[in-house]
Amino acid sequence: MRTTTSFRSFLLLFVSILFSFIICSNAFVITHGDFLTCISLHSKTTSIPIYTPENANYTSILQSTILVLGFNSSTTPKPFLILTPLEESHVQTAVICSRKHGIQIKVRSGGHDFEGLSYVSDIPFIIVDLSNLREVNVDAENKLAWVQSGATTGELYYKIAEKSNILGFPAATCTTVGIGGYISGGGYGAMFRKYGTAGDNVIDARMVDVHGRVLNRKSMGEGLFWAIRGGGGGSFGIVLSWKIRLAPVPPTVTVFRVDRFLAEGATLLVHKWQDIAHRLPKELILFLSLGVANATAKDEKTVRATFTSLFLGDAKKLKIVMKETFPELGLNNNDFIEMRWIQSILFLDNLPTNSSIDILRGRSTVKSYFKGKSDYVRQPISQTGLELIWERLLNDELAVMNLTPYGGRMSEIAESETPFPHRNGTLFKILYVAAWNEVASSEKYINRLRKMYEFMTPYVSKSPREAYVNYRDLDLGETSKNGTASYSQAKVWGTKYFKGNFDKLVYVKTKVDPDNFFRNEQSIPSIAF
Ligand SMILES: Cc1cc2nc3c(=O)[nH]c(=O)nc-3n(C[C@H](O)[C@H](O)[C@H](O)COP(=O)(O)OP(=O)(O)OC[C@H]3O[C@@H](n4cnc5c(N)ncnc54)[C@H](O)[C@@H]3O)c2cc1C
Ligand SMILES: *[C@@H]1O[C@H](CO)[C@@H](O)[C@H](O)[C@H]1NC(C)=O
Ligand SMILES: *[C@@H]1O[C@H](CO)[C@@H](O)[C@H](O)[C@H]1NC(C)=O
Ligand SMILES: *[C@@H]1O[C@H](CO)[C@@H](O)[C@H](O)[C@H]1NC(C)=O
Ligand SMILES: *[C@@H]1O[C@H](CO)[C@@H](O)[C@H](O)[C@H]1NC(C)=O
Ligand SMILES: *[C@@H]1O[C@H](CO)[C@@H](O)[C@H](O)[C@H]1NC(C)=O
Ligand SMILES: *[C@@H]1O[C@H](CO)[C@@H](O)[C@H](O)[C@H]1NC(C)=O
Repeated sequence: MRTTTSFRSFLLLFVSILFSFIICSNAFVITHGDFLTCISLHSKTTSIPIYTPENANYTSILQSTILVLGFNSSTTPKPFLILTPLEESHVQTAVICSRKHGIQIKVRSGGHDFEGLSYVSDIPFIIVDLSNLREVNVDAENKLAWVQSGATTGELYYKIAEKSNILGFPAATCTTVGIGGYISGGGYGAMFRKYGTAGDNVIDARMVDVHGRVLNRKSMGEGLFWAIRGGGGGSFGIVLSWKIRLAPVPPTVTVFRVDRFLAEGATLLVHKWQDIAHRLPKELILFLSLGVANATAKDEKTVRATFTSLFLGDAKKLKIVMKETFPELGLNNNDFIEMRWIQSILFLDNLPTNSSIDILRGRSTVKSYFKGKSDYVRQPISQTGLELIWERLLNDELAVMNLTPYGGRMSEIAESETPFPHRNGTLFKILYVAAWNEVASSEKYINRLRKMYEFMTPYVSKSPREAYVNYRDLDLGETSKNGTASYSQAKVWGTKYFKGNFDKLVYVKTKVDPDNFFRNEQSIPSIAF
């Protein structure tokens, strides 16, 4: 169902909805009718697609980008309605009307939030789903692009590759992540050791603020422009689009992926990896993934260490680098695969590298029950420590640990340059993941992941125990379901995500959104200073 600015159809809509759906909250009664009246009064040009629960497409729109099946249950709170803006002014209208009627707004770009914060709430709320605002305009000559928040990283890569063979962007290895949430939380990927986070490469943005105004870098000011490039989504406003600096890439890059098991000395390899991965040339990233596999020829479990690399250069050079820095890995000539940068995007996302790059425009994702947590490591873990971790992985057999090395450009950028604080001194980040297929196992998996996290305490960063805001984790401290956490509650998880930048985020938030309109379970609190 679409609203229309035509008064007659509006009236019909108004009457039919007003009496059929009344949503109650403690303080007031809101009706779809009131809200739709507001939307209609503020709509300037085309009408905004609106999906109320009685619309046949409400459920499919709602579920379209729900990735975490735990939030796809019948008991998960549902939005009062969903708006899918077609132009910037629709987003302005949504903000003005929700504010007027005291309805919470959840903004969703790609829906990849680990905790479903973009589409779940405990108080009456609407979803502003930006999936129609997904234009990407690439200016290859000036190495720039404007990308709308509703585009995915895959769509951005596709549009860049369409224009140039020697330009890329340092964004996610996952190609279905939404640009809106991704850049809001900093955003790392396979080229971040060379170029920094995605947020480091933003040079302008357009956003709708709490008053419904569209601001750009100049009109929002440097404080707010700083905050939106890593301070986490959902706290400051709705970012419509980002102007990004594209990154030069060579016409040929080289990748490899090899598995090493315990029997092949994986412990020593992982131990050495901790020492060298953060010191490798910036043009090279060597990811490490740890999980459980069946030992070859036996019915025993073993730990599998998967080393995956992207090198911005040819195989000949990479062979020399690997031989000098990590000969123990024992790479063969045929492990090295040369390709174009855009094919390496497919490779790193585990897509067939010979498939058409059209696959990057598809937005379908694998859905499962899921929980993730993160850590940062600043001191190498001893071999004894690694062996204890193996024991844990083998006993539980539930979690995968993905290790991302830091260093390079990431060490050169000051911690306060953007809200993303995990810079110099970081050896690597750990992402713990558990994914499962049936709701009945949820408690078991989540508990084991939490135990694993507890077990890791001695090996990871302390005071604060750092975490990545784009790996949202509501376990990190007290949260408030309605987004009204106090400053001291928020400081607990805020310091883990942002270290010393947390207070500046609170300062900016208090200035631009004093009444805390944009909020979620872990949004930056507004306080009177
Ligand atoms: C399978 C998978 C792979 C991932 N891989 C990577 C990776 O390689 N690198 C990496 O850095 N991260 C990665 N992530 C994490 C990802 O960056 C975050 O989940 C990110 O927040 C997702 O953005 P989104 O737009 O898809 O999510 P959404 O769920 O739409 O949004 C996330 C948060 O941002 C807010 N938000 C969304 N759009 C806007 C906007 N336009 N303006 C303001 N706030 C907004 C939402 O309200 C919500 O709070 C991955 C996540 C998943 C599930
Ligand atoms: C639902 O979506 C389908 C396909 O996009 C469309 O044809 C149909 O008109 C929509 N129905 C309503 C009620 O909006
Ligand atoms: C989400 O839940 C609905 C039922 O509400 C179900 O029809 C749908 O298949 C579920 N999605 C997935 C991917 O399981
Ligand atoms: C290991 O082998 C068993 C059967 O022996 C199989 O069920 C299981 O899926 C295998 N696990 C992995 C991780 O390959
Ligand atoms: C890609 O390669 C795989 C294995 O090498 C092959 O099975 C598949 O047919 C190829 N696909 C295309 C589109 O060429
Ligand atoms: C990073 O920190 C180390 C140790 O504190 C210091 O020696 C080094 O110069 C720093 N690197 C950069 C690029 O600032
Ligand atoms: C939010 O929840 C807290 C309890 O967690 C409650 O005290 C407060 O009144 C609520 N605020 C709003 C605006 O709903």
